[in-house]
Amino acid sequence: MAEAMKGLKRTHRCGELSLANVGETVTVMGWVQKQRNKGGIIFVDLRDRAGLLQIIFEESDCGTDNFAKAEKMRSEFVVAVVGTVEKRSGAVNENLATGEIEVRAKETRILSEAETPPFPIEADSRTKEELRLKYRYLDLRRPDLQRNLILRSAITANIRKFLTQEGFLEIETPISGKSTPEGARDYLVPSRVHPGTFYGLPQSPQLFKQLLMCSGYDRYFQIAKCFRDEDLRADRQPEFTQVDMELSFVDVEDVIDVNERLIQFVCKEAIGLEVTLPLPRIKWIDAMNRYGSDKPDTRFGMELQDVSEAVAGCGFAVFASALENGGSVRGINAKGQAAMPRKKIDALVDMAKGYGAKGLAYLCIDADGNYKSSFAKFMTPEEMDRLVAAMKGEKGDLLLFAADKNPIVWSVLGAIRLELGKQMELIDSNRFDFLWITEFPLLEWDEEEKRYVAIHHPFTMPMDEDLPYLDTDPGKIRAKAYDIVLNGVELGGGSVRIFQNDIQEKMFEILGFEKEDAYNRFGFLLNAFKYGVPPHAGLAYGLDRLVMLLVQGDSIRDVMAFPKIKDASCLMTNAPDIVDAAQLQELGIQLNEIGVSEE
Ligand code: AMO
Ligand code: AMP
Repeated sequence: MAEAMKGLKRTHRCGELSLANVGETVTVMGWVQKQRNKGGIIFVDLRDRAGLLQIIFEESDCGTDNFAKAEKMRSEFVVAVVGTVEKRSGAVNENLATGEIEVRAKETRILSEAETPPFPIEADSRTKEELRLKYRYLDLRRPDLQRNLILRSAITANIRKFLTQEGFLEIETPISGKSTPEGARDYLVPSRVHPGTFYGLPQSPQLFKQLLMCSGYDRYFQIAKCFRDEDLRADRQPEFTQVDMELSFVDVEDVIDVNERLIQFVCKEAIGLEVTLPLPRIKWIDAMNRYGSDKPDTRFGMELQDVSEAVAGCGFAVFASALENGGSVRGINAKGQAAMPRKKIDALVDMAKGYGAKGLAYLCIDADGNYKSSFAKFMTPEEMDRLVAAMKGEKGDLLLFAADKNPIVWSVLGAIRLELGKQMELIDSNRFDFLWITEFPLLEWDEEEKRYVAIHHPFTMPMDEDLPYLDTDPGKIRAKAYDIVLNGVELGGGSVRIFQNDIQEKMFEILGFEKEDAYNRFGFLLNAFKYGVPPHAGLAYGLDRLVMLLVQGDSIRDVMAFPKIKDASCLMTNAPDIVDAAQLQELGIQLNEIGVSEE
C-alpha cells in the first residue's frame, strides 16, 4: 500500500469528463458506487465529489490481471483507473452529467477495500438521521451533502471576495475569552494555570470587534465560530458560524447598503440567483401587526387583522376582557377552509395553546353564508356580521381569532399563519424573500427578573428621537437595530453601537447592572471608549442559516460537516464525554453528585 500512488497521477475528477474528452487517456480515482459483472465485461460506476463516471472493463483489452481486480471490486472500494474516454457504446444515461461517455479501462489499481456500509451511499437517503450522524463520514459521501458543502465553500469564498474588495480586513478574535453571559448561556473551559477560573467561549465576537474599531481597523470581518449553550432547533446549533462585521464612521444606512450589495453578489456568484435591490424594509411594529413575527415569511399573504374595534363592546367575555386588560383581538382569514374538519381545527387550537393562548376562537362561513362558530352563542348576529366584515370574510372562509395581550396574540397568530401557509401549500419554495426589519424595541421587561433586558445586546444605540425616553420611559425606546430575514428565518442582525460612555453607563443602569458589576464584566470596553472611539455599527449573519436557505435545505445540520443532535452531543465521537480523574485533578475540579450520576 505504501506504493499505492506510485506512477499514478489523477488527471480529472470523475464528474468532470464529457464528450469533449473523447479520445484522451485519463487517470481517475474514486469510490465504487456499483459493480455489474456481465461476464467478459464489467461495468463500474466510479464516484468522487464531482459525480459519477462509468468505467468499462473488457478482458480482451485490459488484460486478465486488471479484469480480476475489477471482478473483486465492491461498493465503496477506493480504486484508480487509467483508460481512454469513449463515446458510450450502450444507451446514453440522460440522468448523468457524464452519461454520454465511458472510460475504457487499460489499467486499474485497488487503493483500499471497504466493508459493506451500514446504509447505501446515495442521494435523498431515507436512512434515519441518527444512523447517518453516527457514520457521518459515510453520510458526507452522499451527493446531496457534498453539493451542500461545496456550495457552502463557494458562498464563503464569495463573501471573502466581496468584503475584501470593499476594504474589510479579516481579523481573528479569541475563542477562549471572558465569560460575559447576556442572552444565551456560555460554554465554560476551566483554566489549569489559574485553578477555579474559567474561560468563556464566545457567543459572538461582539466586544472584540468593537475594540478593533477603537483601534482603527475601520472595516473588520471574520468568519467566526460562536458557541451558545441553548436549546437546539432545526436552525440552531451549540456551535455555529457567523459572518461577523463591524464598520466605523457609519450609520444604519451605510451598514444596510454594503450588506445588500454583499447579499446580491453572493447570491449571484454562488447560486446564480438575481436579487433585486433595495430589499424591502418593514418596521418591527408593522411586522408584528401584519405577520405576528419579527421574521415574517412574506412569500404568502394571510396577514393578521386587528379586529379590536369591530368587537369592542361585544358580548363575548373572552374578547371583552382581553380589550379591558390592554390587549387586542386579532384574526386571520384562511380562505376557502370553512370545511376544515373539526379534528384539524382542534389541532390548531392546541397549537395556539402551546404558544400561550387560552384558546383560539373560530368561525366558519359555509357555502350558504351561514356561520358555524365556537363563540356565536355569546354574540348578537349584528356583532357577528361586523366581525366578519372586518375580516373581509366570504362564503367558504375559516376565520381564527386570538384575544390576549399583544405579544401573545402576535406569537399565536404568527405561528398559526405559518402552519396554515404550509397546510394550504401557499408557500412558493422557489422564492427568496429577503427583507430588513428595522426600528426594533431596545428593551423588553422581564417579569421574572423584574428588570429590563436588552433585546439585541446592551451596546445597541437608541434611535436619536427616542433618546429622551432613557430617563422617562425606557420601554418605549426604539433601537438603531436591524435584522435581515429570508423566507421567515432570521438570517442576521446588527445595530449601531453606543459609543458614548454616559449613554452606555445609563444603559447598564437601566438593565440593572451595578456600575462596579458593569466595569467588572465590560470594563475593557468602557475603558477603551475613554481613549478615542469612532462611531461604529455592525452586523452578523448566521452562515449556516444562509447556506441552508440558499441550498433549500430543511435544517442547518444539512450544511454543516459535523453537526450535533438536539441534546448537543455528537453521535459519531460521543462528545461530550467523561474525562480521566487525573485531568480533573489537574484542573482542581471535583464532580458533585449531579456530575457523577450523569456519567
Ligand atoms: P445575533 O445574536 O443576532 O447577533 O446572532 C447573529 C446571527 O447568528 C445566527 N445564530 C445562530 N445560528 C445557528 N445556531 C445558533 N445557535 C445561532 N444563534 C444565532 C442567526 C443570527 O441572526 N453580535 C451580534 C451581531 C451584531 O450586533 O453585530 C450577534 O451575535 O442567524
Ligand atoms: P369557552 O367559552 O372557554 O368555551 O371559549 C369559547 C371559544 O373561545 C373556544 O373556541 C375557545 O377556544 C376560544 N377562546 C378562549 N380563550 C380565547 C382567547 N384568549 N382568544 C381566542 N379565543 C379564545
